[in-house]
Amino acid sequence: MVNRVENKIALVTGAASGIGAAIAKLFIDEGAVVIIADINDEKGNDLCKLLGKRAHYFHLDVCHETDWQNLYQYIEKQFNHLDILVNNAGITGLGLDLDSQSLGPEFSSLKSWHIIHSVNLDSVFLGCKYAIQLMKKQRMGTIVNIGSRSGLVGIPSLAAYASSKAAVRNHTKTVALYCAQQNYGIRCNCIHPAAILTPLWDTMFAPNLSKEQAIANLAQSIPLKRMGTPEDVAFAALYFASDESAYVTGTELIVDGGILAGASASPSK
Ligand code: NAI
Repeated sequence: MVNRVENKIALVTGAASGIGAAIAKLFIDEGAVVIIADINDEKGNDLCKLLGKRAHYFHLDVCHETDWQNLYQYIEKQFNHLDILVNNAGITGLGLDLDSQSLGPEFSSLKSWHIIHSVNLDSVFLGCKYAIQLMKKQRMGTIVNIGSRSGLVGIPSLAAYASSKAAVRNHTKTVALYCAQQNYGIRCNCIHPAAILTPLWDTMFAPNLSKEQAIANLAQSIPLKRMGTPEDVAFAALYFASDESAYVTGTELIVDGGILAGASASPSK
């Protein structure tokens, strides 16, 4: 199938790298016009050049409401409407001088807790808020939030990250039901990736191993025996973004190579 999002106007946050970049590329391949929004202007602009005329870069710090207001005005002026929002930008908090989180909930600082929630959760709140205001005018639109398997289970070394992603999952359902109640024609769904090989993992591999060895070790613990690719997640986003999921809202899709299908302490043969 081609052109599954033909002529749609899509906004992808955190799209300069990793999963967001793969989503932007796939949406463009499928006929959309994509606004690549990020704080990394250099990478974002480089990606735009690579993706061609249907890619546009906009500087957006997802934590700042004024940035969202500026983007809202830019979209209204340039495109007059918005069809698709992917709230993708996110951080683990590792490697950003916020490492108290990795010491466990007992030792985490309130500062790191707030910063991680701001990037991962305030972002989704603000993105949904302004996307609803734009999309309701045409009574049509779809919002895709990127959660994480960490939002579905406890992670002792990533408490703030896990908490923020759990809240993204819940807010997805609230937004979906609110938009349905208001008869806005806006759907909202969530994707929970896990172990997707992107720069996000650079600070999560064991420092005493080569990257190749660390990837191979991690792959052994994944039922499908490999890490996921950003494209694995992009195809899930494309489904939620396209009209093929017209009857799907408030739901979630796990893209994790089977990790969450199992449990530890399972009975032996
Ligand atoms: P990445 O680190 O490759 O890309 C994240 C992008 O977000 C970067 O371009 C970065 O500049 C941007 N960003 C960071 N803070 C921002 C801010 N305040 N405003 C705007 N942009 C900002 O990471 P990756 O792996 O592509 O992650 C994308 C999303 O997927 C995140 O929400 C992450 O939590 C989620 N995720 C990733 C998994 C993985 O295994 N890679 C697993 C589960 C969830």
